[in-house]
Amino acid sequence: MADVTLNDIVSLCKRRGIVFPSSEVYGGWEATYDFGPVGAEMLHNLRNLWWKEFIQSQKNMVGLDSAIISHPRVWEASGHVESFADAMVEDLETHKRYRDDHLVDEALGIVSDGYSLDELDKVIVENKILSPDGNPLSKAKYFNQLVEVKVGTTENSKSVAYLRGETCQPIFYNFELVQQSSRQQIPFGIGQIGKAFRNEIKVGPYFFRTREFEQMEIELFVRPDDWEPHIDRFKKWSIEWLKSLGISESKMRLRDQEFKERAHYNKVATDVEYEFSYGWKEFQGIHYRGDWDLKRHGEFSGKDFTYTEPKTGEKYIPHVVEYSIGLSRLLLVLISDAYTVEEKDGKSRIVLRLDPKVAAYKAAVFPLMANKPELVDKADAIYQGLLKQYPVAWDARGNVGKRYYYQDEIGTPYCITVDYESLEDDTVTVRDRDTAEQVRLSIEDLDSFLAEKLA
Ligand code: GAP
Repeated sequence: MADVTLNDIVSLCKRRGIVFPSSEVYGGWEATYDFGPVGAEMLHNLRNLWWKEFIQSQKNMVGLDSAIISHPRVWEASGHVESFADAMVEDLETHKRYRDDHLVDEALGIVSDGYSLDELDKVIVENKILSPDGNPLSKAKYFNQLVEVKVGTTENSKSVAYLRGETCQPIFYNFELVQQSSRQQIPFGIGQIGKAFRNEIKVGPYFFRTREFEQMEIELFVRPDDWEPHIDRFKKWSIEWLKSLGISESKMRLRDQEFKERAHYNKVATDVEYEFSYGWKEFQGIHYRGDWDLKRHGEFSGKDFTYTEPKTGEKYIPHVVEYSIGLSRLLLVLISDAYTVEEKDGKSRIVLRLDPKVAAYKAAVFPLMANKPELVDKADAIYQGLLKQYPVAWDARGNVGKRYYYQDEIGTPYCITVDYESLEDDTVTVRDRDTAEQVRLSIEDLDSFLAEKLA
């Protein structure tokens, strides 16, 4: 099998409507991306699978769908206004800016995330590290990542607020409202899926690190002495879930963050990393945030977030175990893991070997010829029947070989072709994406065949 490069993935995603650079006709904009018809279906599947697994199927989890812009004090309380900053250096010739720790890490093969400005300056000078264009670098400066917005109707009354830097902060300030309205008792979790925004200095590769992205997060509220078992449970549970999506186990690993790498709110942090063609990269985190968030929101808002144990009357500020995964980053992991190139009989084909749960379409239906109404009608009846159960693609363009090629590239597990034989004996050809083998099946048996294969 040929080695797959990031360029191969970029090309496939654009060609097949998975991901487009945002505002491409204007030359793209600020490291943001738009998800095309196939990508949108895949994201939709992932959101639903995640929500079902972690929220709907759990007695002690409930969901939230909060505003993206909240009171600016939220971000002061959370510590983001003060501490959510990356150290940056400037190329003294081109004036391009770079994230300091990334330049150092790439040059020296170390993890310098969390070094102080002085430490970074010292490492750069001692190791004579230059910018990617080969020029000297400025001293490091901090750059806050919160994205500011102005909200209000008249110029004078507009106030500065922030697009949320992580989806979890509204979970914290809503803690008591959710707990009381849903009658939950500790330990219980609140989950949210939604957009987050960060003025990342170094973006990429591709849509791995972007300025607008989506997170799927759970904040589990626990007794102060009860956090450790929940961290272990989330590690096992989340890896099992990732495996159930078809991600190769051998390409995932857990890595504990060192003290210097950890965000200001974390006491313990474990990353889940994936081995991309450009190295091991983090795509999920499990964090112990202690009582940092509820205590701070208490201090800044004047609201007391003390919880009273119903049975014992014991009072405490709940501690938090967090599970957080980036939706688009997960999509990139899935595409990278599923992308395969097969060489057979001097021909090559690209196959996105996605688990059917994740694939945009579970099957595709083709009439052999687009200009034969009897074939089209029969194929359409099958298409409409299947469509009642799951998303199905329809293709009547070009020859069947080309249609297979297209569906393989977007990961459709089964292609069903209605041909002249179908008109005589009510059978169809069903082709398997992974083996490219075809079987002849009666239309009557199609439902049960697909139900078994897609289960
Ligand atoms: N609430 C905790 C939190 O936000 P994080 O490690 O900063 O923790 C959690 O982010 C997840 O969000 C990451 O594991 C990653 O998948 C995703 N993520 C973070 N920054 C991102 C970015 N700039 N672009 C895409 N995904 C990002």
